[in-house]
Amino acid sequence: MIVLSDPSAFRNECEQARRSQKRVGLVPTMGALHEGHATLIRRAREAADFVAVTIFVNPTQFGPNEDFSRYPRTLDADVEKCTQAGASLVFAPETSAMYPPGDETRVVPGATAGPFCGEFRPGHFQGVATVVSKLFALTGACTAAFGKKDYQQLRVIQRLVTDLFFPVVVLPVPTVRESDGLAMSSRNRYLSETDRRNALAIPRGLSAAHRAFAAGERRASVLTSLVRNPISAVANSIDYVDIADADTLAIARDDAPVSDRSVIAVAARFSGARLIDNVVLGEDPAPIG
Ligand code: PAJ
Repeated sequence: MIVLSDPSAFRNECEQARRSQKRVGLVPTMGALHEGHATLIRRAREAADFVAVTIFVNPTQFGPNEDFSRYPRTLDADVEKCTQAGASLVFAPETSAMYPPGDETRVVPGATAGPFCGEFRPGHFQGVATVVSKLFALTGACTAAFGKKDYQQLRVIQRLVTDLFFPVVVLPVPTVRESDGLAMSSRNRYLSETDRRNALAIPRGLSAAHRAFAAGERRASVLTSLVRNPISAVANSIDYVDIADADTLAIARDDAPVSDRSVIAVAARFSGARLIDNVVLGEDPAPIG
């Protein structure tokens, strides 16, 4: 396993791999790796011969009152997981290497970044689009895996690749869940035992909406209530429960009928953590079968 922190050295390794006729895969992460990340690496490995995992807690995507400083940093364990999952290289740069003195350019996503987390985390998707653009520029032509767990991020990045002509094929990977249905997340480790139990209201609510949609329900307000009700009983607060067109992320309002491929997404706070989850209705299985 090659572990690098220097951007030019990382670029050279990717170029070298392509020169040796290897297809390059990329899995951008912020570390604290779990089975969801490992699945991304394995999927990328199926599509590519040389898979690079990047581990970088990107400061520009965190708001001033968010968890940047306490975000878990577990590099040694992460490198081990990358090896087991079949990665060839880990790129773990310092902040000063990704944002050197004088750095000032930012990538501003459009309407796709507007609803959902865009409303509650101002600047978040600009930070994501900027760092992912930097990583794409260093990696060059590749297949890059992103999880559907962060569905809006996936859509923002698909637009980024299309709009800025990056030589990147985006590989969407279905959400990996714990056996009880909770979506895996690096932030789950912030949850107390009680919060962990209560957080199951999220996959339960999403599954109820999934069942109703499969039975023909198309009223946005009915579908979102099925998600909101169980969560509001146990969460500290709910940022949003909304339903949108799965491609454009245009929010369905009131009782306007939702499209046949719709994403229902939630962000809720449990004392230790803000959790997000979603289901693409008409595409994903129910979180709890
Ligand atoms: P991070 O939260 O570490 O996630 C890295 C990748 O793993 C993302 O594509 C995310 O969608 C995926 N992922 C996380 N949990 C998952 C799960 N349970 N199932 C499937 N995929 C999952 O997302 C980021 O980092 C950052 O914003 C990043 C893209 C690296 C830019 O800084």
